[in-house]
Amino acid sequence: MNIILCGPQGSGKGTQARLLCDKFGFFYFESGAYLRRIANEHPEVKAIMDSGKLVPDKEMTSYLTAFLDREYLYDDVIFDGFPRTLEQYNFLKNWLTDKNVKIDLCIVLEIPKDETIKRLSARRQDPKTGKIYNLITDLPPADVDLNSLIQRDDDKPESIEKRLQLYSAKTAVLIEELEKDSKVVRIDGLKSINDIHAEIVTIVESLLK
Ligand code: AP5
Ligand code: MG
Repeated sequence: MNIILCGPQGSGKGTQARLLCDKFGFFYFESGAYLRRIANEHPEVKAIMDSGKLVPDKEMTSYLTAFLDREYLYDDVIFDGFPRTLEQYNFLKNWLTDKNVKIDLCIVLEIPKDETIKRLSARRQDPKTGKIYNLITDLPPADVDLNSLIQRDDDKPESIEKRLQLYSAKTAVLIEELEKDSKVVRIDGLKSINDIHAEIVTIVESLLK
């Protein structure tokens, strides 16, 4: 089963993707994290990301296929942050069709803009484990040193604004297109992390039956 996790910045895509991978053993393609690794060696990619813009479609799709081909991954993948444009979606759809698989489910996590800003300014990541925390809503366990946690370079107000604009302009349209081809479920992202996880688990289990 292939699942797309969609939603505005800070809606909890990464948080929910990790919980789903732990529970069901899905493979995880996190476009932002993959690009952040590339950006360490490619300043031009880092500049695009820090400004909140999107990496061009052609480049992005070639990164995706390089990753999936290298790991021989065509099924049981969670796509977090990809596709993000109609072009990327059409590419993925055709690419999966060639492998005789499809997108089975798209979960859209919905939160308002003020929640995005609140969450991203308090988001921190543990560089050792990759775990995401929140200084307001989701503190790390006591054995994690708060000073060792890092903040993303694109979690600055002007980048967040740009990222939200692009989400409305490019990604919202794509969801309408996805609704024509796959099961799309919209979830209120303001609920607690555990409640959202439980809701997604119920949907996934019903599709796995
Ligand atoms: P990416 O890394 O994908 O960033 P994003 O879409 O902006 O989403 P975020 O990672 O900011 O949010 P999230 O939904 O994962 O939330 P999280 O779980 O962390 O992309 C970064 C950049 O890479 C893009 O701007 C672009 O430049 C480039 N890029 C990526 N994909 C691309 C593509 N396909 N094409 C072109 N360019 C691409 O949660 C946020 C915080 O909230 C955390 O602190 C968490 O603890 C907390 N939280 C989560 N859920 C809850 C909850 N229910 N209640 C309270 N707090 C919560
Ligand atoms: Mg994320």
